[in-house]
Amino acid sequence: MRHEIRFLLGHEPRTITGCDPTATVLDWLRGPERLIGTKEGCNEGDCGACTVVVVRPEEGRLRYRSVDACITFLGQLDGCQLLTVEHLRGTDGALHPVQQAMVDEHGSQCGFCTPGFVMSLFAMTKDPASSSFPTTSPIDDALAGNLCRCTGYAPIVRAAEKVLAAPSPDRFDASESETLAALLALRDDETVAVTGSEGRFFAPATVDALLDLRAEYPDATIVAGATDVALWVTKGLRILDPVIWLGRVRGLATIARTPEGLRIGAGVTLADAGAALAELHPDLGELFRRHGAAQTRNAGTLGGNIANGSPIGDAAPALIAMGATLHLRSRAGRRDISLEDFFVAYGRQDRAADEIVEAVTVPEPAEQALRIYKVSKRFDEDISAVLGAFALTFDGDRIASARIAYGGMAATPKRALAAEAALIGRTLDGAAIAAFKTALVQDFTPLSDMRASASYRLKVAGNLIERLAFELAPQAHETRLAQVGNLIHA
Ligand SMILES: Cc1cc2nc3c(=O)[nH]c(=O)nc-3n(C[C@H](O)[C@H](O)[C@H](O)COP(=O)(O)OP(=O)(O)OC[C@H]3O[C@@H](n4cnc5c(N)ncnc54)[C@H](O)[C@@H]3O)c2cc1C
Ligand code: FES
Ligand code: FES
Repeated sequence: MRHEIRFLLGHEPRTITGCDPTATVLDWLRGPERLIGTKEGCNEGDCGACTVVVVRPEEGRLRYRSVDACITFLGQLDGCQLLTVEHLRGTDGALHPVQQAMVDEHGSQCGFCTPGFVMSLFAMTKDPASSSFPTTSPIDDALAGNLCRCTGYAPIVRAAEKVLAAPSPDRFDASESETLAALLALRDDETVAVTGSEGRFFAPATVDALLDLRAEYPDATIVAGATDVALWVTKGLRILDPVIWLGRVRGLATIARTPEGLRIGAGVTLADAGAALAELHPDLGELFRRHGAAQTRNAGTLGGNIANGSPIGDAAPALIAMGATLHLRSRAGRRDISLEDFFVAYGRQDRAADEIVEAVTVPEPAEQALRIYKVSKRFDEDISAVLGAFALTFDGDRIASARIAYGGMAATPKRALAAEAALIGRTLDGAAIAAFKTALVQDFTPLSDMRASASYRLKVAGNLIERLAFELAPQAHETRLAQVGNLIHA
């Protein structure tokens, strides 16, 4: 075992021998480190004032990812380089090109949000392609998780355009091979175990070590990206002990094409899972692009989105409609189940205490007409009120098979079995749509909550089949907001 967390703060090696399992990077930066450029706004991943950049070696190069420091635990930095706004200036004191562009374009007024914007833009300039899905602008994607109360976004977007138009190497490029070597030297196969006054933090490096820890501490809290769990701490004020973090486990963050489909490891980030799934179908890319914002997608994982069992998690309904298989693993072995069978009841999943979610396999939507619709109050950075996912096959103009799943309509993500049956053998016309809507009432009795009323949910869930019919009609007009957005940008 290694009883310390090791990472680079800027270019300085740091070793932490004792810390609470859920101490956040934000509290550590602003507290003991006195690096107060990183701001605290919401403390729940929504405003981006605390945005920092985490750098990891991936496939022989450095990957720069923006994350929210307020919902990142200190232990999650093991093996990484952490960059804050204080690290961007050159050694001669010159502003980084991103900072200079913000000054030139008057992108800052009170300045509270500015370090967060600067760090999001910095991450974007380091990897403009990776932050964008096919239908959107990299600038909008990079900035959707940063809120400004004063300046308005136009000057900030102009600053972003300026740096993207004239990319120039910076001091991080100059020191890339040195940083890469330093980060690779931090890697080892030891389990990290660090203790603080509130409890223990474990970070195993192998699946075997993870499963042993899971068996030894069945009540431990598993943490992947912490975009759910950190809020139990920052907003729920819970004390979690022990915590087992999955981020170092080798092999858990891999994506592979198999004869059964795309197998995505539980530890793959939502950003990477979305990019891979976008190649199967553009609606999957668009769904993942609308998951939170870049910071959330860079930290959160597909495994966490499924394992949390949330009735409003975005991935599950889409992957259920596509017939995905979930792979579970414990010391007793592996178990594969259909994803829809994983969700038993509110807060209850078909997963034993010592099991972890290892991966999910998503079949290619070969013959299917696939459509996924997320309905939320805001387009970006918002949780679904209703999510409808439709996978239909046709025999001529008649529906031969239908797998339809919804989120936000029941205590779990759930298939609409009666509504599916109402469609089989029919053409997708007005009568079929009416039958579908009638059957939907047998499938679901949704709740009213702050996101939507029960009647709105039922109405909109039914209306989504009309949208589907409209989009599948010959010479259908484009109805996607993303497309409208592109036209506006063009
Ligand atoms: C600002 C913000 C915006 C968000 N927007 C969205 C959104 O648009 N759509 C949406 O669906 N969600 C959204 N979320 C919720 C969250 O991002 C997702 O649920 C995310 O996928 C969780 O993944 P994670 O890796 O961060 O999980 P964690 O927080 O680390 O864990 C979540 C749960 O899963 C368990 N767990 C994690 N991995 C495993 C595993 N491999 N095996 C067993 N158990 C495991 C944990 O113990 C915990 O119970 C948002 C959250 C924030 C903070
Ligand atoms: S303080 Fe708002 S996202 Fe972290
Ligand atoms: S400049 Fe004041 S909040 Fe953005």
